[in-house]
Amino acid sequence: MTDRYAVVGNPIGHSKSPQIQMAFAAETGEDILYTALLFPVDGFEREARMFFEHGGGKGMNVTVPFKEEAFRFADSHTERASRAGAVNTLKLLDDGTIVGDNTDGAGLVADLHRYSVSMKNRRILILGAGGAVRGVLQPILSEQPAELVIANRTVSKAQALADDFADLGTLKGCGFDELEGTFDLIINGTSASLGGELPPLKDSLVNADTVTYDMMYGADLTVFNAWAVERGVARTIDGLGMLVGQAAEAFHVWRGKRPDVEPVLAMLRGDRRR
Ligand code: ATR
Repeated sequence: MTDRYAVVGNPIGHSKSPQIQMAFAAETGEDILYTALLFPVDGFEREARMFFEHGGGKGMNVTVPFKEEAFRFADSHTERASRAGAVNTLKLLDDGTIVGDNTDGAGLVADLHRYSVSMKNRRILILGAGGAVRGVLQPILSEQPAELVIANRTVSKAQALADDFADLGTLKGCGFDELEGTFDLIINGTSASLGGELPPLKDSLVNADTVTYDMMYGADLTVFNAWAVERGVARTIDGLGMLVGQAAEAFHVWRGKRPDVEPVLAMLRGDRRR
């Protein structure tokens, strides 16, 4: 039987993951079937068990709102998933147990490397302190930035995150008004831009050499990247490459092969222009 994989969430209709993963499979010659499954909000565990025990399921990508439930569902965790407290990739192991992984941060870091953005010894600012930010902190800290600052509207959440990761590098949590100096890289991990909003950011945070990265993406420049362009930032990146990067990392976890992300990105960028 063909190995089955799926992305599960609620809603799930607009997920690009089946298109991305089937393209990876074609490129690497792996015989898999990858579909999108809508799970009821109160039925993650039941449906996930069905998929793995009776549906030929070998692995699963998990998205909103099930990432924390997927963490609890997994029998064991990778280090990066433990740090994230959330799982976006489940894999059935040969012994019948299921390991939970989180490939979001690796996807972000891989995308920054694609753009030749170095994080080593740089000053990095992350906006937001929710699940999306927690999920990427360990892979970013492993790049050994000189300093990592987490700024959030609710200051206590930024400070708590900084405390949780303090053993991995130099980082601090604060509010937006406490930010000082200019940063080499600013990553927007707030959900503010979903509503077309922006946190209150000082102009002095960026100069022409700053790189801005928005974990969000869309057909147009995101609100955050538009803010940066208006202040002279030359390099702005959106989160489409992170999406493809986390997918490539999940594919590697499952199949042991690293697909080339460039053709898939070109395909998705082409789709976006239509
Ligand atoms: P996610 O899983 O996407 O990270 P989340 O855990 O709800 O979602 O976190 C959302 C993040 O966006 C939080 O950091 C939130 O700030 P608070 O912790 O203060 O709520 C941030 N956020 C959402 N809307 C915002 C806005 N309009 N301005 C600034 N920050 C905002």
